[in-house]
Amino acid sequence: FKVNKPFSIIILVIIFNLFETVSCISVTNERYRLNYHIMSPAGWINDPNGFSYYNGEYHVFYQYNPDDATHANMHWGHVTSEDLVHWKHLPIALYQDQPYDVDGVYSGSGIVVNESLVLMYTGNVNQIDGRDFSTQSQALAISSDGESFIKYINNPVIPFPPQNGGNDFRDPKIWKYNDTLYVVLGNQNNLTMQGRAVIYSSYDLFDWTYVGVLAESTGSFGYMWECPDFFELNGFHILLLSPQGIEANGDDYQNIYQTGYFVGSYNYRTNNFSHSNTFIELDHGHDFYAAQTMETPDGRRIMIAWMDMWERDYPEQEDGWVGALTIPRELTLSSSGRILQNPVQELIALRTSTLLNTTLNVEGISKLFDVHSAEILIKATFNDAITQVGIRIELGNNSCVLAYLDTSNNKFVLDRGDNDPRRTLINVTNANNPEALEMRVFLDKSSIEIFLGDGEITFSSRIYPSSTPAVYALSNGTVTQMEVVAYELEN
Ligand code: FRU
Repeated sequence: FKVNKPFSIIILVIIFNLFETVSCISVTNERYRLNYHIMSPAGWINDPNGFSYYNGEYHVFYQYNPDDATHANMHWGHVTSEDLVHWKHLPIALYQDQPYDVDGVYSGSGIVVNESLVLMYTGNVNQIDGRDFSTQSQALAISSDGESFIKYINNPVIPFPPQNGGNDFRDPKIWKYNDTLYVVLGNQNNLTMQGRAVIYSSYDLFDWTYVGVLAESTGSFGYMWECPDFFELNGFHILLLSPQGIEANGDDYQNIYQTGYFVGSYNYRTNNFSHSNTFIELDHGHDFYAAQTMETPDGRRIMIAWMDMWERDYPEQEDGWVGALTIPRELTLSSSGRILQNPVQELIALRTSTLLNTTLNVEGISKLFDVHSAEILIKATFNDAITQVGIRIELGNNSCVLAYLDTSNNKFVLDRGDNDPRRTLINVTNANNPEALEMRVFLDKSSIEIFLGDGEITFSSRIYPSSTPAVYALSNGTVTQMEVVAYELEN
């Protein structure tokens, strides 16, 4: 049987295509894989996308490279859950397969319209014209079963940035108000080179009209605003966003890029968002970015974020994967206008056995347990001689994580022992002596999320133990009384 040349080329092309669709990186070492957080099966993930509720299930999509543990070839990975706790992997929802998204199906959001689940995302196309830049436009994909998505034939629905808008024009967050659909997008003003959020509206989902600028940096809030989200909490409007280019200032803005919010009040008729000029950082840990929210059927505002950060080392990369999402958190607004974050109540379902339920007198350190994945609730009361109170987590290899209140300056500190500690001011109750500290900690193999007090202060960071972490109560100075309740969490 003699194979002629054109025929063998066809065979080779078929074989190559077959590999293209099945080729996928796999996880080679489970050591840092999380037990109850959303991760991809393997490969790279960043931002959560399309967080929504459809046909009785929560849907979370994420920026996903199924081929490699690096940021490239952005697809949308997809998981669903009935309870925000137990997640199921679904097939990849969006591929980069159209001329307008050939270099990346970038971030976006989801909404239910006419009984379909609609995704709106940014199509990214790289242009090389001596300078390197990409063009970004906004596109739709629609599903009637919540699993397979068809891209709208007349995509992109918002083909160009608005007036004075630079090429960075991405991350549509869609919502409905009365009978109108709105979308907020991140953009750069190309006259001032400052970040801004712009709004469009539509009556039918397909034709979009530019409404105007919702808010923009006046000089100190960054050169580009990524992943904006806009929603109501307690009668106020919140603009949540991830700006690039905010300078570190004391304990604030220590990550390369930030996530935070402005609180204000929005007039839909005039597009006037009158807000305080204070950008409040949402999380004080090392790894928190690109947060996105949704409203649950029972009216709660839930947020999830990428639990990593751009441009750093990712120890799990050599194991064939990078990135995870935070646990879902319920947002409320305090009377002083600050967002409170608390783990969604559904997470209680993760508790399996009780590891500890006791009251201790801690002086120095006191071993609690060895554990990979746990929820730890601590209530400490102490007198004013105390200088440090919190926990110490030994990770093996002589490294440890300290998470404690430093009473000498009323700051809470998360120190991973890597010369990059994070701290922020915390209001310690000092009305009645003794003082008190309440902390709720979610540990999950290579992550720690700390919620302090009523949820006004959180820290989210990745940590990398080399053996099962050993958790200690920590009190430097005189005796601290600590109530400790801890649960092992389901895998
Ligand atoms: C934020 C971001 C988005 C963009 C996506 C690309 O982390 O840079 O602005 O759409 O990631 O993966």
